[in-house]
Amino acid sequence: MSDSIILGIESSCDDTSAAIIKGNSILSNIAANQAIHKEYGGVVPELASRAHQQNIIPVVEKSLTKANIQQNAISAIGFTRGPGLLGSLLVGTSFAKSLAMSLDVPLIEVNHLQAHILAHFIEDANPMPPKFPFLCLTVSGGHTMIVLVKDYFDMEIIGKTIDDAAGEAFDKIGKIFDLDYPAGPIIDKLAKEGNPDAFKFNKPKLDNYDYSFSGIKTSVLYFIQKEVKKDPDFIKNNLNDLCASVQKTIIEILMNKLEKAAKDLNIKEVAIAGGVSANSALRQAMLDNQEKLNWNIYIPKFEYTTDNAAMIAMVAQLKFERGEFTDLRTSATAKYDL
Ligand code: KG4
Ligand code: ZN
Repeated sequence: MSDSIILGIESSCDDTSAAIIKGNSILSNIAANQAIHKEYGGVVPELASRAHQQNIIPVVEKSLTKANIQQNAISAIGFTRGPGLLGSLLVGTSFAKSLAMSLDVPLIEVNHLQAHILAHFIEDANPMPPKFPFLCLTVSGGHTMIVLVKDYFDMEIIGKTIDDAAGEAFDKIGKIFDLDYPAGPIIDKLAKEGNPDAFKFNKPKLDNYDYSFSGIKTSVLYFIQKEVKKDPDFIKNNLNDLCASVQKTIIEILMNKLEKAAKDLNIKEVAIAGGVSANSALRQAMLDNQEKLNWNIYIPKFEYTTDNAAMIAMVAQLKFERGEFTDLRTSATAKYDL
């Protein structure tokens, strides 16, 4: 891998992030999270774009200072072109275009989903990078899919959610429990003190490798409505058990399909990526399968799971080596296939 220094910029949702990569080694990875959305129980697109506007210059400056790099040492600029919230993507895209123009360096577009997967190739993401072909369960607030990764830029989605994403299920069920947004990490924490077998929730019955998470959300909602009629404090009195049971169900749904795909395709290299891969029960289920099913597992370092610019810089580096540059006339795109 070349030793070039590249700036990566991520602004697809509610994190403004900038990172500096040299080869595949991350020199800085800075993020400004937008606390404002907590008040609304979800990301408000208009407020997200405005916060990106306010954060982008300080975040990029900080990434350069932390990496101890001058602007003129940058060989290229990578940015998230999509998928994501258009107004948010536009901020990062416009900034990347202007900076590339002023520094007279190549501009490199990055697909956010590819970046979650290719984060595994950052030097300190794993003790060893995955070997092709591998399966990657990509689970975030917006996406849930099993990807067959044949090469860096040769990926095939073999299964995906037909409705809600797994992270969305965590967040929406958290809302029913009156937890803050995003509820995924809170449920993970509370679940540690609860009994995962306390309550049973419906699991979808889909034939192929596809997922569905709208059923469990409805199942939890009806169950809670029924119980709260009998005991108004039902949620408060059972919160840890509720979180543990919901988490167990979601992780079982995710793992069952991943295990089926690995078995059918006879693949033992199995990775997870995206925000939900920070989940401790998912990480434990992967570790269990390392023992039980002889999988070689790849669980990225925590800071490379939720949205971050390090993964964007990693993809930009791979594209830089291949001479894959983007025309300055490019624009952001809310939808962007793998
Ligand atoms: O990848 P990400 O940062 O943003 C998207 O591209 O969507 O993922 C955010 C999602 C949220 O739904 C959040 O609740 C979930 O990842 N999440 C978790 C955990 N940490 C983040 N879900 C379950 N357990 C966690 N520890
Ligand atoms: Zn993401």
